[in-house]
Amino acid sequence: MLILGLESSCDETAAALVDGDRVILSHRLAGQEAAHRPYGGVVPEIAARAHVEALGPLIAGALADAGKTLADIDAVAATAGPGLIGGVMVGLLMAKGLALSANKPLVAVNHLEGHALSPRLADPTLAFPYLLLLVSGGHCQLLLVEGVGRYRRLATTIDDAAGEAFDKTAKLLGLGFPGGPAVERTALLGDATAVPLPRPLLGSTEPHFSFAGLKSAVLRARDSGRYRAEDIAAAFQQAVVDCLIDRTRRALASAQGATALVVAGGVAANGAVRTALEALAHDHGLRFSAPPLWLCTDNAAMIAWAGVERFQAGLTDPLDTPARPRWPLDPSAEAVRGAGVKA
Ligand code: KG4
Ligand code: ZN
Repeated sequence: MLILGLESSCDETAAALVDGDRVILSHRLAGQEAAHRPYGGVVPEIAARAHVEALGPLIAGALADAGKTLADIDAVAATAGPGLIGGVMVGLLMAKGLALSANKPLVAVNHLEGHALSPRLADPTLAFPYLLLLVSGGHCQLLLVEGVGRYRRLATTIDDAAGEAFDKTAKLLGLGFPGGPAVERTALLGDATAVPLPRPLLGSTEPHFSFAGLKSAVLRARDSGRYRAEDIAAAFQQAVVDCLIDRTRRALASAQGATALVVAGGVAANGAVRTALEALAHDHGLRFSAPPLWLCTDNAAMIAWAGVERFQAGLTDPLDTPARPRWPLDPSAEAVRGAGVKA
């Protein structure tokens, strides 16, 4: 089985071919950092236009790299949400056009499902159910992954996502864009104990995450003029790690049957986060699984792989499937206080 996957929900445009044996035949990706850098964040209109320009050549390149044509694929998978709606529409409409012209089924993939299943692309022995910490620029959730299309949300953020906190901290400290890798690099040069920062909701009986107060504390630390940027970055990263570990430890108690602790999403590329989660899994006698760094941040291989898993389960979608700016993985999960558009 061979699936073409497309990703365009934020600021990466990507196309990949993945088969049923987990072989990534090809992957082409175009980032947009340079276009957004002057604004210090992703500008939706600029992103959508960049996807329009990049997507066609990336698909042609991915097919050529794999030595395949559209006739060789079994289905076209594309991110159908959640994300910046202009970009999602570009990728989904392209997928519909290809599916229609080549007479292949469409698989509409939830971007979060792409992240949630990505560890299984890298790790063939990772079986359901597993506890997933999904930490990206738009999301911070703990999910019990019970099977393809079966996700139970145990916790989410009540304000900012973890990646968003990294990006805002980078902006406050003048470290540039994108923020996560810049904070991680700078933190290596700092002393995490030099700056006292809060750990929102640490030890709380409610299951959720919160990062807005931490961001405000970073702002106050910077404005005090008493600390080096390197020390603030290190203290911030340690505070995020402490919060992620505390909340994940709490969720493990209610994640019955989970055989592994898994991390996915862009923040999973952070070395300190990975190391701390690995130790937590070890303490609980659980396997730890994390995709390779390039599969943690947005890419099309994870969308193609989610396409493989859904197609194998008999799940395809009609050509009038809408693009969705919001699309919770667990529709039964209650909205949480203050969570806004990101939950
Ligand atoms: O999954 P992703 O590529 O896009 C979304 O779906 O949001 O995640 C992007 C987020 C950004 O907030 C970025 O700053 C963060 O992941 N990120 C990192 C690192 N690499 C990317 N955060 C901390 N440390 C990193 N090394
Ligand atoms: Zn993502």
